[in-house]
Amino acid sequence: MKLGIPKETLPGESRVAITPDVAKPLIAKGLEVCIERGAGESAHFHDDTYAEAGVVLVDRGEALGCDLIAKVRRPTVEDVAQMREGGTFIGLMETCGEDEVAVAMQARNITVMALERIPRISRAQSMDVLSSQANIAGYRAVIEAAARYERFMPMMMTAAGSAKPARMVVLGVGVAGLQAIATARRLGAEVYAYDIRPETREQILSVGAKPIDLDIGEEGSGEGGYARELSDEAKARQQQLLADELAKAHIIVTTAQIPCRPAPQLVAPEVVERMREGSVIIDMAAGSGGNCPLSKPDEIVTAHGVIIVGHTNYPSMMATDASTFYARNIANLMDIMLEKGEDGALALKDLDADEITAAAQFKPQPNE
Ligand code: NAI
Repeated sequence: MKLGIPKETLPGESRVAITPDVAKPLIAKGLEVCIERGAGESAHFHDDTYAEAGVVLVDRGEALGCDLIAKVRRPTVEDVAQMREGGTFIGLMETCGEDEVAVAMQARNITVMALERIPRISRAQSMDVLSSQANIAGYRAVIEAAARYERFMPMMMTAAGSAKPARMVVLGVGVAGLQAIATARRLGAEVYAYDIRPETREQILSVGAKPIDLDIGEEGSGEGGYARELSDEAKARQQQLLADELAKAHIIVTTAQIPCRPAPQLVAPEVVERMREGSVIIDMAAGSGGNCPLSKPDEIVTAHGVIIVGHTNYPSMMATDASTFYARNIANLMDIMLEKGEDGALALKDLDADEITAAAQFKPQPNE
């Protein structure tokens, strides 16, 4: 069985789905691993390192034509045309419903393992790319904030005077938000955090931040541990109650997302106007509509003297570690996808028989 790794082609994407270290045990298991030449360069994994690990260097068509394909970002329709009929794709599909890529893959009878569909359960943690990448994103976002903020993060007492610690607010305390808090605390900031899921209160305290308690008259816990969308009244109340806390912040990091819905608006333009000049907003939801309407995807804008950062791919800015974690997640998933048949050859298991591989399969329905 051949595993192909095509190079990522989306602008700004520097990650690679399989690293040389992760390829070795896969090869030992009996897979032939083939990588498109140069696929790991942007993450600092070079062709000769892959070759030393036993990986075969191939052209794009050959990588896409393998039995199994591991990729970070969703394929293009052109990629799908080069994939093997009846093959298996493992990667992010980045869509909630039917779209032209999904349709093209279905037409070629390709089994799609959409990594964002892996359930958030304990047994699947080692395969959970959303978590491994969000963790990196939360860290990198705070580094970005610290670099853009023209003052100290920690309290600083020097012979030339002293500086107060930065006051940071984190909105949305999932995986990225928790790592953002932990990173900001390590840098010495004073951190406040808020999420609509009440269970996050304890988690906020455990990483050294102060929870912001708001009574918005509704709870935000939805299915599968994710948040649900609030009613219009609750949204308005939330914004109003948050406004004073946000206006006092030097740095705001927003991570609030609702799967398959636009991101909730949490930082209104009037709040930005009230913030001090030189403050920084890192809108980690800029790619899905933004938690601040003034943010622009993949741009850094200044509004009312406040720097608003809309990067949409923080993991790619840490491509070496992000690729390593991503590759390990995939290898762990492949452990439960593959088995040796009686003839000693690797084959796909019944993917519907395990709750993880059953949930991860992308079988779009027209009304999905
Ligand atoms: P996400 O990226 O979907 O959303 C980020 C955060 O934004 C969430 O905490 C959400 O509650 C919050 N949010 C949404 N709307 C909001 C609003 N209007 N105001 C304030 N906050 C708002 O979340 P992520 O990081 O993917 O985590 C989703 C869930 O999965 C969490 O419950 C997390 O603890 C759980 N999880 C479980 C794992 C496991 O048990 N294996 C592994 C990883 C995550």
